[in-house]
Amino acid sequence: MPIYILDKTFVLETKNSHYVFSIDEQGYSHHLHFGRKCSVDDYCYYKAPFENTNHTKRDMFTEEFSFFGGTMYRECDLKVKYFDNCREADLHYDSYSVSDSTLKVVFKDKHYGLKLSLIYEIFNDFDIIKRYSKLENESKFDTEIERFYSAQFNLPDESPYKFKNTNGAWGAEFLETETTLEGGCLVFESRRGATGHNTSPYFIAHQNANEESADVFFASLLYSGSFKVVASRDVFCKTRVSLGINDFDFKYVLKSGESLESPAVIAGFTKGFGNMSREINKFSISHILPKSFSKKELPILYNSWEATNFDVNTKGQSTLAEIAASIGAELFVMDDGWFGKRNDDTKALGDWYVNREKFPNGLSQLIENVNNLGLDFGIWIEPEMVCPDSDLFRAHPEYAYHYNTRQANTIRHQLVLNLTREDVQEYVYNSIDYLLSKYNIKYIKWDMNRPFSETGAENLSCPQALWYLHTKAVYDIVDKLKEKHQSVQFETCSSGGGRCDLGALSHFDQAWTSDNTDAIDRMTIQKGYSLMRPVKTMRAWVTDTVGYNKQTSLDFRFNIAMQGSLGLGGDLTTYSKEELEICRKNIALYKEIRSIVQFGNLYRILDFDKDEILFNLYVNDEKTQAVGFIAARGTRFYRKSINLKFKGLCENKRYEFTFDNEKYEKSGAYLSSVGVAAKIIGDNYSRIIRIFAK
Ligand code: DGJ
Repeated sequence: MPIYILDKTFVLETKNSHYVFSIDEQGYSHHLHFGRKCSVDDYCYYKAPFENTNHTKRDMFTEEFSFFGGTMYRECDLKVKYFDNCREADLHYDSYSVSDSTLKVVFKDKHYGLKLSLIYEIFNDFDIIKRYSKLENESKFDTEIERFYSAQFNLPDESPYKFKNTNGAWGAEFLETETTLEGGCLVFESRRGATGHNTSPYFIAHQNANEESADVFFASLLYSGSFKVVASRDVFCKTRVSLGINDFDFKYVLKSGESLESPAVIAGFTKGFGNMSREINKFSISHILPKSFSKKELPILYNSWEATNFDVNTKGQSTLAEIAASIGAELFVMDDGWFGKRNDDTKALGDWYVNREKFPNGLSQLIENVNNLGLDFGIWIEPEMVCPDSDLFRAHPEYAYHYNTRQANTIRHQLVLNLTREDVQEYVYNSIDYLLSKYNIKYIKWDMNRPFSETGAENLSCPQALWYLHTKAVYDIVDKLKEKHQSVQFETCSSGGGRCDLGALSHFDQAWTSDNTDAIDRMTIQKGYSLMRPVKTMRAWVTDTVGYNKQTSLDFRFNIAMQGSLGLGGDLTTYSKEELEICRKNIALYKEIRSIVQFGNLYRILDFDKDEILFNLYVNDEKTQAVGFIAARGTRFYRKSINLKFKGLCENKRYEFTFDNEKYEKSGAYLSSVGVAAKIIGDNYSRIIRIFAK
């Protein structure tokens, strides 16, 4: 898939789309096209628009990357302050270079020696481009960066766009929102130090799209810190969107000779939200997730948190592991409570050594028991935090972010460690490295249970860089640990799904989706997750949480949890023989369908929130096998008798399956246009259909 250069017009060609921009006679960049593929010869040099006293050219430009300076009055991507207090950049085109699938276009502010590179990458077989920006200080003086977004996108049409994002909370992650932007700005952001549970670091823009049709433009930041997505629509009906590190309380001093790369953004154009999610899913597996496990099936885990809370010991955990093994689990994860004096959430974060009262002989005995059962062993840790009541804090109170003049606010009795300090980074790395080196641990659940506050960082000459440096330190530590301990999987968790963006998923193999394991709520949470994140990273447990909304059967809970990477989290010691048999049966089924769920293509056919019925179909790449999950909470008005219409199958292939004890053999064409009659009756309706091509 080529990159074309026509004079000073750059054309990035993906499977089905073109992304085009050009440079004008003054050296400014202009976006020309983002959408369907046209003939490359069609694109021509940009002509600057008219200008009048109130609307300057620069203000009207649809730039690739905008900067503050001159007659620029709208939201822009870069704001700097030079050593002599000049607060305006003046960047003009300098040069370009292409290597393989990467294009770099360079702009320079010659007077102050600031170099800006816009870097684009395209990928075989994907309708996705990756972009990031880089600043280099070629002067002798410091330059202050007050804002540095990663990228700007200009949407093609004059009519208003609808923007999908999320408006979630703890226990209610990824709840979708849609807002029409007619004028002004729309901002989705986090100021919390991590992505958080509320909004998501992406945009999904459309005018009348649905799951399968009409144009969808999207971009997602690969960044887990405080972020900002700003969409605006001006008086000339131009819609622009910028994404990047949040500029709120941000500053970065670029010293002479230094450079700063923005987090990357992936962006694309598809028909329908379904294609978008499938594209993101596949792209993440090929190009985002850490390589060591991206193409491997993730194990079925048992996590003891909901069963035992902080009350962990060798005997109790071994008993749970025995039952977990007997029903087919593959990995046993011991959660919070195993370290320091951790008997509740009031103390000990930071003391990452084994609690000898609970584990008099260390963790070896438990791990040996678990391994002897044929299970791998995993452990929980919350490395970025410290409790004031901990040995670590008593020895090093300076390790936490703080201001000497302010009382630090604890949340869940904990403070955030200043991970911009090298000694703190070393402490965190060494603590985990020690555990991984000493014990046969194959899985780390890396938690992060509070947002930042009192963010004083005396170690930094520019403390406002901490927002970015903290996130970078997390990524660096995880990468370094993964490099040394290549067989260990990492899970990102932040009070549930508070940090599972595509940035985190560039370093962690999977995510804890939500502390809300109620299967009814999970249908909504999981749908929101699947929009812009790969399905296999979505950890989903079957637990004993029933009845926040409505009692659900064990089969029902499995149905929902099997739509991501299956786990279990209930107190297995209380399960009856029949219940354990239900677990065994479903786990065995999941092992058979796991590759289709984790690596296949998800078609969201019926939406529980709109249709009262959930119907998700996962189809393998060859379209020879599929698995459908149907679930409904209960029937109203004596219905529902509906025709389940399938999507994503091959029209000409014939498929066999059994549904409600009836055998079917139908063509893909028939299944997509006529479908199969289903009687959705009663509470806890739950069916899983396996479909095979003949
Ligand atoms: C929050 C996580 O989301 C839970 O799964 C659990 O690990 C607790 N923290 C432990 O404190």
